[in-house]
Amino acid sequence: MSKIVSLCKRRGFIYPGSDIYGGLANTFDFGPLGVELANNIKKSWWKRFVQDRDDMYGLDGGILMNPKIWEASGHTQGFIDVLVECKKCHYRFRQDEIGNSKSKTLISKCPKCGNDQLTEPKKFVPMFKTFIGPVENSSSMAYLRPETAQAIFVNFKNIIDSFHPEIPFGIAQMGKAFRNEITLGNFIFRKLEFEQMEIEYFIKEKDWEKYFEYWKKQMEEWFLGLGIKKKNIRWREHGKDELSHYSKHTEDLEYNFPFGGFKELYGLAYRTDYDLKNHSEKSGKDLRYTDLETNEKFYPHVIEPSFGLERTMLAIFSEAYYEEEVRGEKRVVLRLKPELAPIKVAVFPLLANKPELIKKARKVYELLKPNFAATWDDRGNIGKRYYAQDEAGTVASVTCDFQTLEDNTATLRDRDSMKQIRVKIADLVEKIQKILQGEKFLNLGKIVK
Ligand code: GAP
Repeated sequence: MSKIVSLCKRRGFIYPGSDIYGGLANTFDFGPLGVELANNIKKSWWKRFVQDRDDMYGLDGGILMNPKIWEASGHTQGFIDVLVECKKCHYRFRQDEIGNSKSKTLISKCPKCGNDQLTEPKKFVPMFKTFIGPVENSSSMAYLRPETAQAIFVNFKNIIDSFHPEIPFGIAQMGKAFRNEITLGNFIFRKLEFEQMEIEYFIKEKDWEKYFEYWKKQMEEWFLGLGIKKKNIRWREHGKDELSHYSKHTEDLEYNFPFGGFKELYGLAYRTDYDLKNHSEKSGKDLRYTDLETNEKFYPHVIEPSFGLERTMLAIFSEAYYEEEVRGEKRVVLRLKPELAPIKVAVFPLLANKPELIKKARKVYELLKPNFAATWDDRGNIGKRYYAQDEAGTVASVTCDFQTLEDNTATLRDRDSMKQIRVKIADLVEKIQKILQGEKFLNLGKIVK
């Protein structure tokens, strides 16, 4: 884990939040490569679950919403953490940490100093509050949303009126959620602000088990498709005392994280008709669905696949991080799937002090840049530049050398095998496209190195 954290900072994926001021616990900033990786994950999710389907509607709801929404959703009363403080070292922590069993395990000793003298448990609602307008009182108070899901429920009627979907159908959205988390550590696993990618899938009550199984498969397939090994995932059912206030049945997809083993990656919940019914009652608006054939009115039931972006990233880093020994030196390589890699191709002149090589390589860079996420580097020696790109997960590198000046060919290097082939500049775009589509490097030309 510490190696991943260090690589993320070194290569500009993830920086500790507010670093120059000593940091702020459980906050992190995405650097240039982190933003690209995050965007590529979100793109893959949106394509699979929204654009490629006929039964899904996308949404981008607000972070600030009427506080009555959080009363109707049950969050102000039911979204609760149990906080205790160690009487010796004054460390505060969540007592109801979830273990590996089907029920909540209450922590009886301070995780920091081991003392068993703890204060009485105190309940607290981990939603951040803010105020709308200049006066800070209870009537101007608003919450930062702790889940994206509620924007979907309050827009349910709008989607029905605009698109008249037939059940089953889903509404999907991705965006920031905020939680006043008190458990510290484990890098981006638990942040104060994080991104969720959520679907509320509206069904008839009798079908809930069928669609629960269907979404289990969908979640698993998409996640494994990001380059994850099957042995590193498993499902865990929530015990009765662990279920969220809105859920009748929940299972977590767990991932074998490089700290502490299997932990929650995503959640899949059967939310029944809890949310639509409560919003109907509290808002006074009829949120029932009318069956297009029978005219019967009813509250649809809901299956909710909920994905976390940061935990996805952490799992991807864990799978992709490799250390190898090459000619007596350590090479770190991030074997990201090409579709996820922030940079697809790097372009270099072989030597940094030869203007004619730099000029030629720059032309190649300008040729590739409109086609791929490309980067340029002409600092240091070529070996160091390759290793820096390997750490960043860059899929391929193109180097212009003295032969390039003579015959308009360049070397194309594969990140994973470190093998090189010689390619005509005019063929580079096509060859790189093939690598990104998963073609074996050996099939693209004669290995020269
Ligand atoms: N709408 C349902 C819901 O919010 P959840 O299990 O509380 O369910 C869903 O959250 C997912 O969001 C989690 O499985 C996890 O991937 C992610 N998540 C939750 N809290 C998080 C946090 N503090 N930091 C990073 N990711 C978090």
